[in-house]
Amino acid sequence: MQEFDIAIIGAGPGGYVAAIYGARLGARVALIEKDTEGGTCLNRGCIPTKALIRTTEIYKTLQEANRYGCLADNVRVDYKRAVSRKDRVVGGLVKGVQSLLAKGGVTVLKGSGQLVDAHTIKVIQDGEETLVQAKNMIIATGSEPAQLPIPGATLDFVMDSTQALELEELPESLVIIGGGVIGMEFAFIFGRLGVKVTLIEYLDEVLALLDSDLTQDARRNLRMAGVKLHTGAKVTSMEASPEGGALVHFESVATGEAIPSVKADKVLMAVGRRPFLGDLGVEELGIEIQAKGGGIVVNDLMQTSIRHIYAIGDVTGGMMLAHVASHQAIVAINNIMGQEEHLMDYRAVPNAIFTDPEIATVGLSEKEAEAHGLEIRVGRFPFAGNGKALALGNSRGFVKLIADAETGILVGGGVVGPGATDLIAEITLAVQQGLTAEQVANTIHAHPTLPEAIMEAAWDIGSGALHLAD
Ligand code: NAI
Repeated sequence: MQEFDIAIIGAGPGGYVAAIYGARLGARVALIEKDTEGGTCLNRGCIPTKALIRTTEIYKTLQEANRYGCLADNVRVDYKRAVSRKDRVVGGLVKGVQSLLAKGGVTVLKGSGQLVDAHTIKVIQDGEETLVQAKNMIIATGSEPAQLPIPGATLDFVMDSTQALELEELPESLVIIGGGVIGMEFAFIFGRLGVKVTLIEYLDEVLALLDSDLTQDARRNLRMAGVKLHTGAKVTSMEASPEGGALVHFESVATGEAIPSVKADKVLMAVGRRPFLGDLGVEELGIEIQAKGGGIVVNDLMQTSIRHIYAIGDVTGGMMLAHVASHQAIVAINNIMGQEEHLMDYRAVPNAIFTDPEIATVGLSEKEAEAHGLEIRVGRFPFAGNGKALALGNSRGFVKLIADAETGILVGGGVVGPGATDLIAEITLAVQQGLTAEQVANTIHAHPTLPEAIMEAAWDIGSGALHLAD
């Protein structure tokens, strides 16, 4: 029996960050993982998709090279090479995480963890069992793709995002079910690479949770990339087409009328993810589970209903984002190791969506601010007025800041356009620290840079943007 202060199950961005930080604070930490360190995000999600998106960006830039005075003829994509580059990027990062864990003194136990009692975990690997005793535990087992309960959902041509990333050759045609974050990122990846993509979304809008001014450019570009978009449409069944591939049947949500079926080589199902508990034994131990969604119930300290067992990341439902998991890891470890209570704060969680253009948001949206009955002032600045964006040749989009009308304190914001997913960091800092629009406006921003658009949007909340005539 091995004994630890903290045993963590799952080595994704929740679990491995908890392990490194816990060990740094002096705890004896065991990290149990049945697969590769880095979890879904690093191995099958955030990182490999970003590596492929980079290929599509370079392809698009080369196709448009004439505009910049560069001549590039006969530009083609070698998808196999793009895939091996993606795999190298992932492999390098996995090695990095492994070495951080080793240098940090974390004991990594390979195998599948099962809760035996409130202080004991059984780790099973190739039929061998090891028992681990721990004063505290953290469950960080992540999530798995959800599946629609419709006829044909388990046929061979249906992929989830993991399988889509494992493709070694591009299909000629693809149906994507779901226009959420995963569906949209893949629609751009495959659409830009020349695959005939049809995207079917149940709601009236793709990326429906966002303010629609932020999503309209992505919708337009999706169409320009040749993606056929059906919104307000529900997939009812799938079958193997007699000529091979899939035949996808769907109907209008509003009228129930059938829409002509689409034939495609492959179907990607991207209709959400659900917490992954596997045969961990969470319920058997009496840990409370959410009635809706099936995630583990946690309080603001990240404790489950058994207080020395914590849960973090996608397994708790809620915001399924790597950076939320990593922050919850810090909060959980602080509570395990510290004297004072540390509360998880969700006021300033950035969202980064890697469509073209990129979209990023933080804090309250306009819709949410209205729903909260908060009186707001909104400042905007278009990239068309930003020198760096014009020099880049990428000046569509804008920055939007949302402030409490009474105090001027920033409560949210969004960016759509070049560098949006990086630019959101400044707005996140401002929202997190309770800065006012005036404080952001009075911060010197380097010229010529994209963040000047944030400063200008902050001016717009006050006396008006400096580089924009009314
Ligand atoms: P999602 O919940 O964002 O989107 C699923 C979409 O499928 C919804 O728009 C829904 O209306 C639609 N849908 C459901 N049933 C349907 C049907 N029968 N026919 C047509 N459409 C249907 O889930 P998604 O995109 O699978 O992502 C899963 C999780 O992973 C999310 O929590 C997301 O935030 C996270 N994620 C975040 C990323 C990022 O922040 N860049 C990247 C990838 C995933």
